[in-house]
Amino acid sequence: MNIEPFRIKVVEPIRFTTREEREEALERAGYNVFGLAAQDVMIDLLTDSGTGAMSAAQWGALMQGDESYAGSRSFFRFRDVVQDLTGYKHIIPTHQGRAAERILFHSALQPGDIVLNNIHFDTTRANIEVEASEARDLVIAEGWLPALVHPFKGNMNLDALDSVLSNEGDRVRMVMMTITNNSGGGQPVSLENLRKVSEICKRHRKPFFLDACRFAENAWFIKVREEGQLERTPKAIAQEVFSLADGCTFSAKKDGLANIGGFLAMNDDTLAEKCRNLLILTEGFPTYGGLAGYDMEAIARGLEEVLDEPYLRHRIGSIQYLGDKLTESGVPIVQPPGGHAVYIDAGQLLPHIDPLEFPGIALVNALYLEGGIRSVEIGSVMFGVRSDGTEHAAGMELVRLAIPRRLYTQSHLDYVASIVTAVAAKRHGLHGYRIVSAPRVLRHFTAQFAPLTAAAAL
Ligand code: F0G
Repeated sequence: MNIEPFRIKVVEPIRFTTREEREEALERAGYNVFGLAAQDVMIDLLTDSGTGAMSAAQWGALMQGDESYAGSRSFFRFRDVVQDLTGYKHIIPTHQGRAAERILFHSALQPGDIVLNNIHFDTTRANIEVEASEARDLVIAEGWLPALVHPFKGNMNLDALDSVLSNEGDRVRMVMMTITNNSGGGQPVSLENLRKVSEICKRHRKPFFLDACRFAENAWFIKVREEGQLERTPKAIAQEVFSLADGCTFSAKKDGLANIGGFLAMNDDTLAEKCRNLLILTEGFPTYGGLAGYDMEAIARGLEEVLDEPYLRHRIGSIQYLGDKLTESGVPIVQPPGGHAVYIDAGQLLPHIDPLEFPGIALVNALYLEGGIRSVEIGSVMFGVRSDGTEHAAGMELVRLAIPRRLYTQSHLDYVASIVTAVAAKRHGLHGYRIVSAPRVLRHFTAQFAPLTAAAAL
């Protein structure tokens, strides 16, 4: 039995809505669920980022926050916890993950540089491209095949990595690994693969950074799926993973179990100084980096709780539970289910909708109308525009059901499974969408859509 390893101290009501109310709300939002008011959503699976429930101990830690501008006690507590976990010399707090990305890339990249990664997350890619650099994805071929079962679909293609570094090495400024690989289905990276990437980077003298947002979930997968790792603690595994890289970016809104925050960490003194100078310009003094003292307290405590074994067993087990229910009902999902989300293969479910008529948006909107569930498209709206402005189908058309940490119970997940199954049964009636307006960069957040037929939003 995978019962919740916590009981509930504080509750928030969920507002139930009617289908008519949801139809109106979706139209007002330009058929983009990012535009909905959260109070019009019943089960919010838009993201696992910043949406989790903090523990009683974290709420208690908030009162310990030291709000001094410089040298606050909360910074030192935060720094010590992060250093104990990662081993990195320089710990730079930021208000969230993308701020760490922006500071790192603006400080390290020159126009024309290349950054390699298993698959870049959308903000990571955008922060590289805005520096006129190229974000290139080198995940193993299995990572692009939703139905294929493989224990570590987030792994880097080592031959491709070695070959790019041999042939275009002058342009490659750094190598990254996203753990777990969010854009590829929340799939883990094995310790063996990370060790080899680290070796290859050392051989080619390239800095290796982790995008470590979900490092604890990745550590759990290593523990249970990789030979010889079962007896190790998630913390020992995570510490080894960090030791293989030269630094990391981190969003504390995921495995920091906090509602806001992040950090940039590294060993390189010169780069760290450049980053700190930019931090002061846009985020704040290096001992708070855009965070309140109490945020740093909550993150420090969260980083300890997230490595707790009963927590991780339940966390990964609950995603598996939802994934298995959908698989049993014949809904195609990325297999096996990921660490923080179940990804429905909308391309496979809705083959009658062309990728550039956005099957993912069709499914996201249908899930909202059917049961007030908010999910997110990870497909041709998010990744379809190249940096030269041309439009192409993305590698996969996925819809992500991201599960916030410690927020929903098993009966909420049962409800989600029943709504997805009901929509899948009506799939032939779903139609595509066209974009009415969209910005050039990160268009999925604010694009406005229109149904291609009056019945599109069925
Ligand atoms: N890297 C990865 C792998 C992420 O998943 C995210 C955020 C970021 C970086 C940026 O962090 O949001 O704190 O600025 N992912 C969220 C999501 C938004 O919904 O997957 P941030």
